[in-house]
Amino acid sequence: MAWFRPICVTMRSSASLLLRKPVQALTMIIFFAIAFSMLSTMRRRFSPRKSTLGDPSDCNFPAIFNFGDSNSDTGGKSAAFHRLPSPNGDTFFHKPSGRYCDGKVILDFIAENLSLPYVGAYLDSIGANFRRGANFATGGSTIQHVDTKIFGAGFSPISLEIQLLQFKQFKARTDELFKEATSSYVKTSLPRPEDFSKALYSLDIGQNDLHAGLKSMTEEQLKGSFPDITSMLAWTVKELYQLGARTFWIHNTGPIGCLPYSVIHFPPKRENMDKNGCVKSQNEVAMEFNRLLKQRVSQLRVELPDAVLTYVDIYSAKYSLISQAKKLGFGDPLGYCCGHYGDHYVQCGKKATVNGTEVVGNACSDPSVYISWDGVHYSHSANKWVAHQILDGSLSDPPISITQASLSLSLSQSLVLAKTSPCKFPAIFNFGDSNSDTGGLSAVFGQARPPHGESYFRRPVGRYCDGRLIVDFIAESFGLQYLSAYLDSVGSNFTHGANFATAGSTIRPQNTTLRQSGFSPISLDVQWNEFYDFHNRSQTTRQKGGVFRSLLPKAEDFSSALYTFDIGQNDLTAGYFLNMTTSEVRAYIPDVLNQFKNVVKYIYGQGGRYFWIHNTGPFGCLPYVLDRLPLTPAQIDKAGCAIPFNEVARFFNYGLKEVVVQLRKELPLAAITYVDVYSAKYAIISQPKKHGFKETLRACCGHGGKYNYNRNIGCGGKIKVHGKEILIGKPCNDPSVWVNWDGVHYSQAANKAIFDQIVGGSLSDPPIPLEMACHRTKAHS
Ligand SMILES: *[C@@H]1O[C@H](CO)[C@@H](O)[C@H](O)[C@H]1NC(C)=O
Ligand SMILES: *[C@@H]1O[C@H](CO)[C@@H](O)[C@H](O)[C@H]1NC(C)=O
Ligand SMILES: *[C@@H]1O[C@H](CO)[C@@H](O)[C@H](O)[C@H]1NC(C)=O
Ligand SMILES: *[C@@H]1O[C@H](CO)[C@@H](O)[C@H](O)[C@H]1NC(C)=O
Ligand SMILES: *[C@@H]1O[C@H](CO)[C@@H](O)[C@H](O)[C@H]1NC(C)=O
Ligand SMILES: *[C@@H]1O[C@H](CO)[C@@H](O)[C@H](O)[C@H]1NC(C)=O
Repeated sequence: MAWFRPICVTMRSSASLLLRKPVQALTMIIFFAIAFSMLSTMRRRFSPRKSTLGDPSDCNFPAIFNFGDSNSDTGGKSAAFHRLPSPNGDTFFHKPSGRYCDGKVILDFIAENLSLPYVGAYLDSIGANFRRGANFATGGSTIQHVDTKIFGAGFSPISLEIQLLQFKQFKARTDELFKEATSSYVKTSLPRPEDFSKALYSLDIGQNDLHAGLKSMTEEQLKGSFPDITSMLAWTVKELYQLGARTFWIHNTGPIGCLPYSVIHFPPKRENMDKNGCVKSQNEVAMEFNRLLKQRVSQLRVELPDAVLTYVDIYSAKYSLISQAKKLGFGDPLGYCCGHYGDHYVQCGKKATVNGTEVVGNACSDPSVYISWDGVHYSHSANKWVAHQILDGSLSDPPISITQASLSLSLSQSLVLAKTSPCKFPAIFNFGDSNSDTGGLSAVFGQARPPHGESYFRRPVGRYCDGRLIVDFIAESFGLQYLSAYLDSVGSNFTHGANFATAGSTIRPQNTTLRQSGFSPISLDVQWNEFYDFHNRSQTTRQKGGVFRSLLPKAEDFSSALYTFDIGQNDLTAGYFLNMTTSEVRAYIPDVLNQFKNVVKYIYGQGGRYFWIHNTGPFGCLPYVLDRLPLTPAQIDKAGCAIPFNEVARFFNYGLKEVVVQLRKELPLAAITYVDVYSAKYAIISQPKKHGFKETLRACCGHGGKYNYNRNIGCGGKIKVHGKEILIGKPCNDPSVWVNWDGVHYSQAANKAIFDQIVGGSLSDPPIPLEMACHRTKAHS
């Protein structure tokens, strides 16, 4: 078996290759926090380094890092957005496993072949172990940036560029944790820093760019976009190379015209149908994509002399499976096992009512005879066959096989949380926006940049603040550690709670993308889904014992935990930023409040009993609003705040208080505290001296204008002058006397001053201190 050469054999030995590539400047616009944009120019410099590749005959990959879409998603989309329902996973995992399949995806077979465990999803913070790699793929991901067209059609906001950002963050933080800590958790759960250059980097992405294009343009136009799209993929490979990646395994895209989905939605005319009944022209589109991809991969071999790139022809494997369906023991190659297309599309595992009749997206009785699982994704048995075809290298360029390694995992015992008494809450579960985000948005879309975090943590820690947030002071007051973000899979510890808040979150899902408007896709309904999933899976995972017992909360902690909320501000600004009038904004507030109310009820249904609900702040006092929305002098109050916006905030708060009153009636066992954060915030702005502040409205960290705030530059923003980067979004000298940190968020000093006002209960209804929030009082009846 001469062609059975392991791919590392082709690696050139490279004793001391100097990487002095031109500095890659990645310029991207991330809109974040509360609908404010910032221009972030990130640069990576690489010092000369030695290649860390081992002996050429040593082919054991210590880890796999994968990038892709649902073809290789092992739970990313499911963790972040909504758990995939049964019967997904039925054949192999016997429960939904985050895969769009009844069993294993091709990546799983690759991992098995390399004797590595299945690759855990980076976004899955529960029980995932990254010692042997991480999977950044999410269902619906595209290579291109996500914009309206594709987002509206249900594609994932986690495009390839975001997956790269996540990888960078994962790597940087892993390196950091290895330097700092010697805890067994770090060692058993994260890859060793040296593994990054020895790992296999696999990519399987592009199909959704084709899907999106086929919906919105002609096939010819779509083909015209491929040079750009394949260049983006190549750019990602180069970025990974700059970070030390050397071995790449790149899948091309499958015969999209043979998906039952395509045949149903684009029924081909006779002359456009191939011998298998597939849409011929769509397969030609896929082949054109693959032709360009293969070209780009060849080019990359020249550009990245020290890399080993294998281009894998998944198309041919899948197409030959479809062509030989009968011979290989499959039924109709265009049939599918799960879901219902007909007049009404019902997703696999879902139900819908059509004219009074229930239509169910059920599975067939024998998935093993179907090539397509759900009309879009291949079944376990099809994936198995395809994987078998590609593993031996006969469909690869160059024709080399994936190799084996045999390694095993071990987890160590750790401490278990001590028992705590009832009103000393054992855990806090928080829901909200940037006012209480402790790293959620950062984990998904890229770390908040310096100087965020400078006053306390001395580095960015996912908070849009120079230091701690109100929720941090709340945790401190109970002697609990700061809350880990649910979406943060690196080093998180959820024994004492989890934070589902992300910057830019709203109560109602928005109809715009993060890139367009700055609002997070993780709206409160999504946070609820995440919590629901967390509740269940944290327990099944915890039962495995070992380290999980000291990373996940106990079952009984869910009913004795404090549930905190700080969300709504972005729902209000969202309307104004869409140029709505105040009366239009007011008109949708009842709907917003109703959705909020439902989530509290759902959590109660899961056993939650103690709720601590912040009302919304005077957003008319914040630079990002004052700077952006037109105001007349008569609309400005003595403190310099915008009267109409603060009125709307109070209108919302009035409604929120009503909702709390109703909830107390509907949820008889709950203790619900409504906390008037508005008054605490307005107090420090209108009476700064009394609270020790010198500046109230201007941003401490920012650049220019009346409020030292520029929407396009932002805190930490840099510009390029004569090729040199200059920091112009600078922080003020003493943030401790500034109320506002970055034009959108309060400073740590302000957060502490707000916390000090609310902790004692004088701004609460009922007026009881935070530490008594587990007690129902007469005010509740
Ligand atoms: C549902 O009922 C409406 C009105 O009777 C009819 O026009 C439509 O075709 C029906 N849809 C299906 C899927 O039967
Ligand atoms: C991996 O795949 C190759 C080629 O198909 C095969 O020869 C080998 O036995 C497989 N190894 C494992 C561990 O499955
Ligand atoms: C988004 O659009 C849907 C459908 O038009 C609408 O029902 C919903 O209210 C919109 N959401 C927001 C936040 O505007
Ligand atoms: C988790 O969900 C499964 C089914 O989806 C159920 O059987 C199990 O009891 C749940 N576990 C917990 C701890 O809620
Ligand atoms: C997680 O945090 C708790 C305290 O909140 C601690 O007892 C436990 O040891 C931590 N777990 C790990 C693995 O560090
Ligand atoms: C709102 O109005 C401004 C000024 O007229 C305009 O530039 C902007 O595009 C509008 N925004 C939206 C979302 O319509």
